[in-house]
Order: sequence, then structure tokens, then C-alpha cells
Amino acid sequence: MEKQRSSFTGKLGFIMAAAGSAVGLGNIWRFPYLAAQYGGGIFLLVYILLAVSFGFTLMVAEIAIGRKTGLSAIEAYKKLDSRFAFVGVLAALIPTIILPYYSVIGGWVTKYLFSFIAEDIHVIAADGYFEGFIASSFPPIFWFFLFIAVTAIVVVLGVEKGIEKVSKVMMPVLAVLTLIVAVYSICLPGSIDGIKYYLLPNFSEFSYKTVLAAMGQMFYSMSLSMGIMITYGSYMKKEVSIEKSVRQIEIFDTGIAFLAGLMIIPAVFVFSGGEKSALNKGPGLMFVTLPKVFESMPAGKVIGAIFFLLVLFAALTSSISLFETVVSFFQDKMKWSRKVSCAVVVGICMLLGVPSSMGNGAWSGFTLLGMDFLSFCDFVTNNLMMPITAFFTCVMAGYVLKKGTLETEMALSNGSEKLYHVVIRYVAPVCILLILLTSVLDFLGIMKL
Ligand code: TRP
Repeated sequence: MEKQRSSFTGKLGFIMAAAGSAVGLGNIWRFPYLAAQYGGGIFLLVYILLAVSFGFTLMVAEIAIGRKTGLSAIEAYKKLDSRFAFVGVLAALIPTIILPYYSVIGGWVTKYLFSFIAEDIHVIAADGYFEGFIASSFPPIFWFFLFIAVTAIVVVLGVEKGIEKVSKVMMPVLAVLTLIVAVYSICLPGSIDGIKYYLLPNFSEFSYKTVLAAMGQMFYSMSLSMGIMITYGSYMKKEVSIEKSVRQIEIFDTGIAFLAGLMIIPAVFVFSGGEKSALNKGPGLMFVTLPKVFESMPAGKVIGAIFFLLVLFAALTSSISLFETVVSFFQDKMKWSRKVSCAVVVGICMLLGVPSSMGNGAWSGFTLLGMDFLSFCDFVTNNLMMPITAFFTCVMAGYVLKKGTLETEMALSNGSEKLYHVVIRYVAPVCILLILLTSVLDFLGIMKL
């Protein structure tokens, strides 16, 4: 039975839904640790340049593809040009790999929320607390199961609307609280080196890895190259301006990521005494740094608990939409019922999530390309599959489709239209190819950069 495609109510409905999907752990957890690791200011600069060029262009293209066809990713690519059907499948595979490890991190957030409620803050902020937690076997898996169970139950019961309503209130509060903590962080004595590191680009830290990491992060944070914006576009009313909506989502998404960096990176300098290795904590950075910030704050325990609750909501709205995307992929492609599809998705999450969690502890000896399992899933999706999907999207939109097919749908203003064409035809495909080629050569050891 063909389901009637409902529309978002008006402009705000679309922006809130798309922003709800975009703002999540990517902004608060992933962006700060990458910025810390890849040179601070230079990463921030590259990220912003990519967001306003690539990010803008690709999001406009994806939403236009969705609204034009009224279909979800797999069917949309097929309909526009059957030779590009594989791009739709690739795009749908990405959230299937992201969801399991996203839920592992969601589990860490849930655990921290409970810790802030039930434990002494000095215990949580002590050195080694986080490391001890992720290296243990059972607790992280327990929290991961809890997170994925809540996500699945929300989807199975079809109560996303309820969660969305709550998160419409929670998101702006999260933005405000992040701002407050960021201001507090930069006022800590000794933060100035960290502020400089984060805000002033140091060109000697630049390498292709900065661009690769920033590009992957941009796709991830803006939920691009995984079919999600195509699906959202298919629900978008014709009279809503794509250009304006994309600008607003972009500003909101980048703004929160920027503040999250400001909240965490200067604090890393404060609490490590300026030691460089503290910047390379990777996925644990936020969990190690923030408790120390809250510990030094008046009423830090309460603020910390509220903060992790808000982050948990941001993570849940994202994991729900990831879960939905994967479920509808199985429903459409395999013609499985919704219940069966949900069960299969939970199964996949266990299969990929348990090794992601154990990779930090008991199974840390098992690595792929030198990475633990969680980092490997993160790397393969963000730094390989998403650029490849984006590349083919650019080729299709910029060269293969008849001019005007998507352009009339986009109805861009003059300046943006020029930017769009240059980026989709030349800048984006060439940069993506160069970056991918460099990483492959580097990996093979032919070129050491
Ligand atoms: N953009 C989300 C974040 O920043 C994460 C995410 C990646 C996502 N892919 C998605 C969310 C697909 C929803 C749907 O955390």
C-alpha cells in the first residue's frame, strides 16, 4: 500500500526536524575532539570554509533531490538516473554502520547522566574515572543496550512525535547552557593558551588530514551523504525556501559545534597544565574534560546533570532518526514488515555495537587498519563512504542530469546559484578525489605527508 507522504507543517516544521537530526553527538562530542586533535584554529577555519561551500551545496542538492522526486534516497537516485541507483544504496548503508557506535556513545552519555545524579562529583572528575569505565566490559554494554532499547521502543511505539515535542524545548535550552558553560570555561584562569589554540589558525598544523577530518565531520554533523536530507526534502512543502532553510540549519549546527569546542578545548589546557598529549584523547575528550569543568563550578553537580540530560535528548533525536532511516531501508528494499525490520536493526546494533564497546577494553587487541573497532566504523563511514557518496551525488547533479532538473526546485538567488554550480561541478568533486587519493597513497606508504 502506498503511504501518503505527509508534509511538514510550514517552514519552522522543516527546519526544526532537520536541525533536530543535525544537532546531536556530532556537535557536542565529535567536533571538539577532532578540533583538539587536528590543530585547533586551523581545523575550525577549514571546517567553516567547507560548511559554507560544500556543506551548503550538498545540502541544497540533497533536499532538492528529495523534494523533486518525493522519494527516499534509494528510490530517488534510481528515479533520477538508474545508473546512479547504487549511490542510494551506499547512502542507506552509512546510517546502518553509524547507528551501532552512535548508540555506544549515547550509552556513555546516559551513564554520565546517572553518575551526575547518583555519585559524588569529585569521583566522576577524578583522573582515570572515564578510562576505568570504558575499559570495563559489562557496564558500557549495559548502558549501550539501554540507549538502543529506548531508541527502538520509541520507534516501535511510534511516539517520536512526543520526543520531538520535548526536544523542541530542550534544544534551545541546550544551546543556551552550552553558551553559559563556554563563557565559564574561557574565564577559567589559564584558559588563554587554549583559546588561542582554538581560535587562531596555525598553518604549520595544516595537512591533508585536517581537510579529511573536517570534511568527514561536516558530512556527519550536517547529516549529509546518508540519504537523510533527501528523505526530509521529500516531506518539505513546495513554497518553503530551500536556500533560507539550509542557511539557518547550517548556522545553528555550526554555532553549537563552535560553542562546544569553546566549552571543552580551553578547559583541556586549564586542567592538563598545557600538556599537548591531553589534546589527543580522541572520543573520550568530552567525558574526561567536562566533569572537571563542572567540578570547579558552583552547583556543578546539578548543572552537569542538566547538561548530560540535554545532550542525551539531542543524541536520542538523532539516534531515532538514524534508526528510522535504517528501518525504512529494510522495509523498502527487502519488503520486510516494520516489526521485523526493527528487530533486524536492533540485531545489527548488537553485532556491531558490542565490538565497538569492547574495543576500548577487553578486545582492544583486535584492531582494523590500526584502529579499535569503534574508530574503524567511524573512519570508514565518515572518511570513505560519505566522500564517495558525495562525489557521485555531485557528478549526477552537476553533469548527468539535464540542467534545470534540480535547479528549478532549488530556486537559488543569483550569488548562491553561481556558488552552487562552481562547487558541485568543480570544487567538490576535485577536492574529494584529491583527498581520497592522498589518503589511499598515504595508507599504502607511497607518500608520507
Ligand atoms: N548529525 C548527527 C549529529 O551531529 C548525527 C547523524 C549522523 C545523524 N547521521 C545522521 C542523525 C542521520 C540523524 C540521521 O550528531
